[in-house]
Amino acid sequence: MSPIKLLLTGATGYIGGTVLTQLLNSSIPEIKELSISVLIRKPEQAELYASKGVNLITFDGLEDVECLRRVAGEHDIILHAADSTNPSAAEALTLGLADTQGSTKKYFIHTSGTSSLGDRPVTEQLIENREFSDKNDDIYSYLKQREAVESYAQRATDIKTVEVGEKVPGVDTLIIKAPIIHGRGTGFFNQKSFHIPVLIKGAVAAGHAQYVGDGAGIWDYVHVVDLAELFELLVAKILKNDTKGLLTGRKGIYFAGTLRHSWKELAESIAQHCYEAGRLESPTPQSISLQKAADIYTGGDEHIAEVGLASNSLTVADLAREIGWTPKMKETDFQQSLLDDINLLFGSA
Ligand SMILES: NC(=O)c1ccc[n+]([C@@H]2O[C@H](COP(=O)([O-])OP(=O)(O)OC[C@H]3O[C@@H](n4cnc5c(N)ncnc54)[C@H](OP(=O)(O)O)[C@@H]3O)[C@@H](O)[C@H]2O)c1
Repeated sequence: MSPIKLLLTGATGYIGGTVLTQLLNSSIPEIKELSISVLIRKPEQAELYASKGVNLITFDGLEDVECLRRVAGEHDIILHAADSTNPSAAEALTLGLADTQGSTKKYFIHTSGTSSLGDRPVTEQLIENREFSDKNDDIYSYLKQREAVESYAQRATDIKTVEVGEKVPGVDTLIIKAPIIHGRGTGFFNQKSFHIPVLIKGAVAAGHAQYVGDGAGIWDYVHVVDLAELFELLVAKILKNDTKGLLTGRKGIYFAGTLRHSWKELAESIAQHCYEAGRLESPTPQSISLQKAADIYTGGDEHIAEVGLASNSLTVADLAREIGWTPKMKETDFQQSLLDDINLLFGSA
């Protein structure tokens, strides 16, 4: 029997790279037998993948939806970790899976984030005093309702993924909505996350760590290796045909948070570590306005700055835990992640 074919996008990235390493090092027999392909757009990165036993497919980028659809048609499972904000790419990959109908079900696993659930506490346009459970709350309907009021690319992509999956035969979709991801990645290229390193760089540039307004908004965090283990678990369940309890479609929206901090707490930790590393003169962070945060961090976009740097986005990963996900990283690993990021950004002091 020919091996099951898995396609990974974003393999050179932080999340995709760590997921690829997790799969390549997996001790699960069904995963060892997988045929894994990656879509890469930079030829200079190609050689390494061939040497690791990974099939290489080069392409111009996610904008080439015809190519995405054609390549997707040659695979059984897609892990899409390249861009959580591109509905056309998610659609093309899902449609492509449906183009080649066989006897086995195909799976599209999309990587997304939780800023699409974030409230607007600074402008007071939306205050959410709630925790979302992926098991007990109808996340899809919540996303639809928010999107009807205000468009947000990450949310639109989640909705597109679910709706295309429902429309085409033979494809099940799952979405992993990861909160802030921390920890050193294990991929071959980018090993650092986005959120925290950007805030560290901003702190050092400003001379003090920063938080927006009162910094009281709270978010969840997940270590990148714990997250990669969730991908591994989902792939293993699919390969073993152990899909009872594996929710898909509009119910198959999985959270992945394990730790929780306010923005002010994050700024305090960044300030303390940068101070100890000799990168800041004070271990005390400072409050900045939303407008200033937007100017520094989000190209002037206050909406993105508010949901991405000041909001409350509280999620409970009930579904993943129910199917056996056992994240291991603790608060000490989170603090170590901050040190690792400082060293990755500036080198050891
Ligand atoms: N890091 C987090 O905390 C977090 C949390 C939740 C969700 N997310 C979302 O998950 C996605 C991946 O995040 P990440 O941290 O792994 O980012 P990353 O390290 O920047 O990696 C992005 C990957 O996607 C590829 N890619 C991006 N745009 C592309 C395009 N237009 N065409 C082809 N390939 C493209 C990159 O390829 P190249 O190497 O060729 O550039 C790279 O392999 C992002 O959309 C991010 O917003 C991130």
